[in-house]
Amino acid sequence: MSEKLYIFDTTLRDGEQVPGCQLNTVEKIEVAKALEALGVDIIEAGFPISSPGDFKSVVEISKAVKSPTICALTRAVEKDIDVAADALKFAKRGRIHTGIGTSFYHIKYKLNSTQDEIIERAIAAVKYAKKYVEDVEFYAEDAGRTENEYLARVVEAVIKAGATVINIPDTTGYCLPYEFGDKIKYLVENVPNVHKAILSTHCHNDLGMATANTVMGVLNGARQVEVTINGIGERAGNTSLEEVVMTLKSRKHIGIETGINTKNIFKTSRLVSSLMNMPVQPNKAIVGRNAFSHSSGIHQDGVLKNRENYEIIDPVEVGISESSIDLTARSGRAALKHRLQLLGYTFEAEQLNKIYDDFLELADKKKGINDEDLQILVGNKHTGEKRAITLEHLQVISGKSTIPMAAVTLNINGESFSAIESGNGPVDAAFSAVKKLVLHKIKLEEFLVQAITRGSNDIGKVHVQIENKGKMYYGFSGNTDIITASVEAFVDAINKIV
Ligand code: KIV
Ligand code: ZN
Repeated sequence: MSEKLYIFDTTLRDGEQVPGCQLNTVEKIEVAKALEALGVDIIEAGFPISSPGDFKSVVEISKAVKSPTICALTRAVEKDIDVAADALKFAKRGRIHTGIGTSFYHIKYKLNSTQDEIIERAIAAVKYAKKYVEDVEFYAEDAGRTENEYLARVVEAVIKAGATVINIPDTTGYCLPYEFGDKIKYLVENVPNVHKAILSTHCHNDLGMATANTVMGVLNGARQVEVTINGIGERAGNTSLEEVVMTLKSRKHIGIETGINTKNIFKTSRLVSSLMNMPVQPNKAIVGRNAFSHSSGIHQDGVLKNRENYEIIDPVEVGISESSIDLTARSGRAALKHRLQLLGYTFEAEQLNKIYDDFLELADKKKGINDEDLQILVGNKHTGEKRAITLEHLQVISGKSTIPMAAVTLNINGESFSAIESGNGPVDAAFSAVKKLVLHKIKLEEFLVQAITRGSNDIGKVHVQIENKGKMYYGFSGNTDIITASVEAFVDAINKIV
């Protein structure tokens, strides 16, 4: 039988403390509702005494969200606790999260106090919060740097005072995974009344160990984890929800379950990222753009044979429709064939080989090849349609203080014809040369160049519209060289007259 792990989400409190990530109340409600749909057990909605905005957000989230417990943060100060209790008045289930620093640094330099006095203040705060709510969580700030013997005394005292959850924060992200695991183990083994409360982890990522520390905490007896979406939070951030949840889901032998609806992970990640203006790094575990994309030929071939060759999580489980096979110059024929099939194209081996050569040529010029690029590649040359006119050669001269010139060779019904023309730019010069060769009376009505993505190495898509004897003809092409794409699109349109 698996044991339940409570997921305490602090995206809207510790996460929202990050400069530039502040949300207004409406946005916070949107995130809170997404967290409810995700299945988190507790939402830390804010620190009500800190500002009227935080107070209001806790009130409104308490009204808007019904399933999770709503938690409000305080210091071990009566006024903070009064205000938090007031902000929670509409919560179906409210929790007050109070606490105080317990490390040598905090006691001496921040609080100018003594260990015994801190225990007294901690007891008083928990008892005071208990007047308002049954569910009181106590945090021993900087527990990561607090010696275990003293921490155990604090924990025992606050449980005796009525705390239902004990938060052991590694506030400065200082611990190594084995140290953090040992800390939780020490508390489990040395605090006589520990069974009366739930131990919680709250890890920061200063050394990149937040997830490892959290998992070690769970392996040693913690049954609540404090996490944020995308790992956002103070400095290097907090433990990321998605990493812990998917670790426990993919390593079932640990025997711990969460109530998270993992299929909502990706969309919740993107909602938080866009509302908080905090991009997700591409290689971020679980939710990064590259987390399920494969780029080397060997990996692509392996994934196409069996996804599990190179993936430990099915992307569908986190709400991503499928693994992506990134087409690059390192991709093999198998990956290209697969992607073309998804786009509805099937080719005989010989034709696929030719497309593959063109693909490699393009991939050398452009970092990533997307579906639109492929459609252009296939559409341009491999649909089997015979063209009366094709562009054989193009050379242009252009630049500052230069008269733009173009030399064009067209193949018309199997014979080559060349012309050189000038113009007000290289495209104008090339179009004039084409017009000279095809002998049709053509008027250019529309000429549109677009980059498919944003990079300067991108394919330029060109659409042209021409008029001949009162009729309109459309042409299209794409090429990393936009002058070539323009002339090919122009020739494409002329072919339709012919
Ligand atoms: O990191 C920390 O110690 C905190 C506490 C306020 C819980 O965020
Ligand atoms: Zn924190």
